[in-house]
This record gives sequence, C-alpha cells and structure tokens, in this order.
Amino acid sequence: MYLVPGLKVCLVAVVASLLREHEVRAEPFSFPLSNGFPFPNETALEELFTRAGGNFTNAPLAPRFDDDSLTSWKLQAFNEFMEVAFFTQLIANITDGVAGYELDSSMRDYVLSSLETIQAQEQMHAYNANDAVRYFTDGAHMFPCTYEFPVSTFAQAVDFAQTFTDMYIGLLANIQQRTATNLGSDANSIVYVLAQALGQEGQQSGWFRSLRQIPPSAEPFLTTSTREFALSWMQHWIVPGSCPNMDFIPLRVLPELTLTAVSIGDASHSGNVTLVAPGAVDPDSQSLAFVNGALVPTVVPFRVRQTSPCAAAYPAGRVMANRDGQSVVAALGREASENCIASTEIFADMPYAHNVMHGLVLMTVVNNSDVFITPQDVADKTVFGPALLEWS
Ligand SMILES: *[C@@H]1O[C@H](CO)[C@@H](O)[C@H](O)[C@H]1NC(C)=O
Ligand SMILES: *[C@@H]1O[C@H](CO)[C@@H](O)[C@H](O)[C@H]1NC(C)=O
Ligand SMILES: *[C@@H]1O[C@H](CO)[C@@H](O)[C@H](O)[C@H]1NC(C)=O
Ligand SMILES: *[C@@H]1O[C@H](CO)[C@@H](O)[C@H](O)[C@H]1NC(C)=O
Ligand SMILES: *[C@@H]1O[C@H](CO)[C@@H](O)[C@H](O)[C@H]1NC(C)=O
Repeated sequence: MYLVPGLKVCLVAVVASLLREHEVRAEPFSFPLSNGFPFPNETALEELFTRAGGNFTNAPLAPRFDDDSLTSWKLQAFNEFMEVAFFTQLIANITDGVAGYELDSSMRDYVLSSLETIQAQEQMHAYNANDAVRYFTDGAHMFPCTYEFPVSTFAQAVDFAQTFTDMYIGLLANIQQRTATNLGSDANSIVYVLAQALGQEGQQSGWFRSLRQIPPSAEPFLTTSTREFALSWMQHWIVPGSCPNMDFIPLRVLPELTLTAVSIGDASHSGNVTLVAPGAVDPDSQSLAFVNGALVPTVVPFRVRQTSPCAAAYPAGRVMANRDGQSVVAALGREASENCIASTEIFADMPYAHNVMHGLVLMTVVNNSDVFITPQDVADKTVFGPALLEWS
C-alpha cells in the first residue's frame, strides 16, 4: 500500500483543526460583497463572467423540476455561499498580510490570482444555483449566513478548503444521482451542468492538494456524501442564528460527532479511531459506519470508552443531540445546565488498510440495519455525525 510521507503529520493537523473549532473565535464573515453578491446587478455579473473565465450556460432550462431537486439546488446555493465567503476572507487575509498568511514572494502572486479566479467561479456557481431556485419557486431564493472558519494560517486554510471542496464533490455526485433518478430524461441538462461543476471542483481540490505537496488526485473514485451530511457538517462554521432562511432547505440537521484521535500502526497497518458523541449511544443496537471511495459503507462495532456527565462546550444554536427523537438545540452553550447532556467517548477499529482508504472518510454512528449500500442508507440511519478525516 502506498503511504505518503508525512501522513501522520497530516492526520494530526486534521484532528487538531476539528478540535479547534470549539476553542478559537474566528473573525466572522458576512455578505454582501462589494459587487453586490449574492445579488449582483447586470454590470457586476458581466465583470464576474470575465474574471471567472466564462459565462453561464445559455442552453434551454430543464423542462421540469421536482421538490427533491429543488431542495438539492437550495443546498447547492447555500453551500456555495459558504465557499465564496471563505475565499473572499482568505484573499483578504493574504492581501492584508495577516499574521499566518505571509506568503513567499515567489508564490504570492500565483496564489492570489488563482484564488481570485476560484472566488469568481464560486460566485457564479452560487448565483447559478440560486437562479434555478428563483426560477422554480417563482422568485424565492436562498440567503447566505455569517461564518466563522476554523482556520488562522494559510496552511490550515488550504487543508480546510480541500476538505470542504471534497465534501462538495461528494454532495454533487449524490445530487446528480438523485436528480437522474427523480427526473429521468428531463434531468439531462441538469446532469450535464452538474458534471461540468463536478470536474471544476475536482480541479480545485487537486490544486489544494498540490499546495500541500500531496498527489493532486486522492483515490481512483472519490467519496460520495449526502445532502444531510453536507448541511450538518456546515453547521460547524455557521454562526448559529445567522441564516435568514436555512429552514427553506427541508433536510435533517444531524447531531455532531467529533473525531478526537486516530491511531495508525506502521507495521501492522491496523488502525483505530476515537470519537465523542454529545449524547448516549448503544453499542448493542448501533455501529460506526465509514464512507469512503467506491466501496459500499463499512460498518463496524464500537466500544464505549467513557461517559461524561456533561457535554463539552457547544455554542448556542448548535444541534447537540437527539433526545427522544427530538433535536436538542443548545440555547446558551455550556453554562446552561438544561443543555448539559452526557457525552460519550467511543472507540472502534478503522478498516483503513483493508479498504485502502484514501481521500475523504466520513464516519457516523448509525442505528443497525440490514441495508448499508449507499451513503444515503448511512445518512438515513445516522444518529451522530458525520465526523471527517482527510487521508493523504
Ligand atoms: C482570516 O484571518 C482571521 C484572523 O486570523 C481568521 O480568524 C479567519 O478565520 C481567517 N479566514 C480565512 C478564510 O483564512
Ligand atoms: C451595480 O452594482 C455595482 C456594485 O454594487 C454598483 O457600483 C453599480 O453602481 C451598480 N450599477 C447599476 C447600474 O446599478
Ligand atoms: C452572459 O450570460 C448572460 C446571461 O445569460 C447574458 O445576459 C450575457 O449577455 C452573457 N454575456 C456574454 C459576454 O456573453
Ligand atoms: C489502537 O488502540 C489501542 C488501545 O487504545 C492502542 O494501544 C493501539 O496502539 C492503537 N493503534 C493501533 C494501530 O492499533
Ligand atoms: C435510532 O433508533 C432509536 C431507537 O429505536 C430511534 O428512536 C431513532 O429514531 C433512530 N434514529 C434513526 C436515525 O434511525
């Protein structure tokens, strides 16, 4: 098996960034941009096409849409807003020479011009998705939120950009499949434009990987995700209560699962993971599912390591746990005792050597089931998750 030198270092970085989200208060970012985005006028749009290196499609629209596809396009716009926010703030950090973002002069111009192109292209993805939403809802659209990204150096920003891009690639693959299933041949033009965006996001992820000096392509078939996983994971960087119409997206926000440790054996190629769920788990009726690459999900038993009387700090508005089938939303954070729910540390073997796991790995605690064929099967049974790991 091919192991990238410095693999351990990468893993430590991922785990650290997952932990950091609870500790560091990042600089918040909110819209609009100076060009009026998310609602640019015609002049601003023309400037955007030029900067992005291409226009929207002028092919005929899909003859029909269904509610499920509409949900998908709302989520795409919502996801793309986050990406635009991130790249805008990253460009500003580099331009302003914020500590941690000072780049070598041999690299700085290339990185900045690349990011400016990507940022314009993401604005076009977002505008295009929101325009589809407008068209099929008689004028309603998604609004962006305020975000606090869990990064404070250029290296962390590149790691994080790779991860959210890989998550988005997984989402687009899932949306493409759903749309094709729901709309049949009426999905032709949608599947086509989704493929165009999928490849574009793949180019971006490959560039982020190159900046990290790891091979640009991670695995032969990329990890697919689900809409619930995408929406739930994004909650980590969204300032709670800052989204004007997130509930316009009729999808379940799953209670989080936090990866706290990964252990890999060099010689044996065995491995294990430690995760923390903000609530009670049951190893007899639940398991840990891994989603990665082209393989059907791998579902393994877990052990409970430790139960703590009170969850770690959860910011106000964060979905903490499902209690009696109800989502419990933290009102005030750790101090509010009524929001104090037991957290459980679990431990499981990680089938990374057997599965040759590279690229994005999604982990969730699932209720046991006979059928785990697709990532959607996993999402439908997820009680906590997803926790993410990027495997070089
Ligand atoms: C930009 O820098 C600020 C200050 O360090 C940080 O809080 C924020 O997360 C950074 N954003 C990005 C996208 O790098
Ligand atoms: C279009 O938007 C830009 C950016 O907000 C603004 O400077 C410009 O005046 C607007 N143009 C028109 C015709 O409204
Ligand atoms: C780009 O597309 C928009 C919308 O379809 C259209 O109004 C505009 O004229 C196009 N611009 C160019 C330069 O083709
Ligand atoms: C897995 O977990 C055990 C028990 O905590 C630990 O001793 C071991 O080193 C871990 N790593 C591997 C690769 O098995
Ligand atoms: C998991 O099982 C519990 C207990 O039967 C049930 O209340 C809950 O709704 C299930 N959740 C999912 C996502 O299947």
